[in-house]
Amino acid sequence: MSALIQSIVRQAKITFLKKPCNETEVNKLYKLVQQLTAADVGIGDALFKRLPQYPAPVLFIPVYDHEDFTITIFVLKQGRRIPMHNHPGMTGILKVLLGTARVESFSPIPPPSQSAFSYFFGKKPKPGTYALRHDPISVSASDDPCRLAPERGNIHEVLAGDGPVAFLDVLAPPYHNGERDCVYFKLLPDDENSPNEKCFLREIPAPEDFWCNTLSYEGPTIEEN
Ligand SMILES: [Fe+2]
Repeated sequence: MSALIQSIVRQAKITFLKKPCNETEVNKLYKLVQQLTAADVGIGDALFKRLPQYPAPVLFIPVYDHEDFTITIFVLKQGRRIPMHNHPGMTGILKVLLGTARVESFSPIPPPSQSAFSYFFGKKPKPGTYALRHDPISVSASDDPCRLAPERGNIHEVLAGDGPVAFLDVLAPPYHNGERDCVYFKLLPDDENSPNEKCFLREIPAPEDFWCNTLSYEGPTIEEN
């Protein structure tokens, strides 16, 4: 029997071959990712014990890169975060493997319509996006994976609160410089206390306290076919 991660790669190739991908195929992939454990990708609590030896707040473990999708593991030290960012036009599945993550998601929405006067004489719009803010959720290894789609939950922040967190991300299509760039955002202060409401997310440069050390994938070998 082949390893679960091998089945996930095989299904991801089928799911993301067709563009845009169809819901039935994404669900098949989701059901496989749902079963995934830390042991299935060669990580465990021993990795958390080694965290102090890495200077970066976040570890990045590339599992599988394909022209249509990427599979990656992120490990966040306690109290550290992957800052609020988008996944332009992308579909994603996020499975927590170790620890508990706090995930806050936003769904982009169109800007409110402007009057002709403000359009011509008003201030230039700030770079950013309007979004619907969803309630933050706590996600552990025993929970179902989170999903994101181009219009649903496409912007999120992932925080390791009470201890370190490891999660696996399947993203399709992959980020691509100049074509599908990762943009970082911050909530404007006025909107900080309004879950489930419309808000404006201001585009910001990549936060300086977010950087990664890259580790090799040490799980089961993934065959090409
Ligand atoms: Fe993300």
